[in-house]
Amino acid sequence: MILSVRGLSKNYGLGDAQIAVLRGVDLDVAEGEMCAVMGPSGVGKSTLLNLVAGLDEPDDGTIEVLGTSLRGLDDRSRTLVRRDKIGIVYQFFNLVSNLTALENVLLPYYIAELPPDRAAAQHWLERVGMLKRAEHLPAQLSGGEMQLVSIARALVRKPALVLADEPTGNVNVATGRRILALLREVLKETGSSLLMVTHNPEDAARADRVVFMKDGLVPPEVSIEGDAVDVAEIHQRLRELEI
Ligand SMILES: Nc1ncnc2c1ncn2[C@@H]1O[C@H](COP(=O)(O)OP(=O)(O)O)[C@@H](O)[C@H]1O
Ligand SMILES: [Mg+2]
Repeated sequence: MILSVRGLSKNYGLGDAQIAVLRGVDLDVAEGEMCAVMGPSGVGKSTLLNLVAGLDEPDDGTIEVLGTSLRGLDDRSRTLVRRDKIGIVYQFFNLVSNLTALENVLLPYYIAELPPDRAAAQHWLERVGMLKRAEHLPAQLSGGEMQLVSIARALVRKPALVLADEPTGNVNVATGRRILALLREVLKETGSSLLMVTHNPEDAARADRVVFMKDGLVPPEVSIEGDAVDVAEIHQRLRELEI
């Protein structure tokens, strides 16, 4: 397994005001697998991704990324796991505003204190159709273009696991489709796995498996996989789960 999550719990708040967001989430993502996570707003989808990324710590449970348990790792060690094994695509792109598209794609090298691989960055910009925008600043790009650059950035070091939190949440429908088709295609090339949160059944239908989050859990019996993954089936499951 590329990712193995067991009994993951996360509470926010203090004392009586504490709310249990995750209540024992179990989830696996296999090598090369594309897994979509759906669920109502506020259910804890971003919380789950943040924990997997090692950006926050759970109250209970375990997370293994490529066999490395995040449990008990200090901030520094978790950062190393994230840096070397994980690529992240954010809903609001998170590009650095004073860096060009190309420099943003090179950022993972700077952060890892590695020599920047300009050829790789250019390759990935080309791959997402943004090479002609290499010298543009984020403010000179549309939302969809920023997301394409951020996908190049997430993939440039060929991470084993890509996390995407509503990657099409702030792009238009046509660009969203293009982004999903592109992710599907490039993941096949790199062999990376993808864990993607989405509200869009059409996006989710591109995945190998769709799991649903409800009441702080990811019940395995309601997930959809293989040939059963299609838009109609996803809509039906969302209705059944009252999501
Ligand atoms: N840092 C935080 N401090 C307190 N509460 C938080 C924090 N982050 C998220 N929450 C709460 O946890 C719940 C789940 O949030 P989130 O994971 O962002 O949901 P989703 O991504 O599914 O919409 C929400 O009720 C949210 O208000
Ligand atoms: Mg969220």
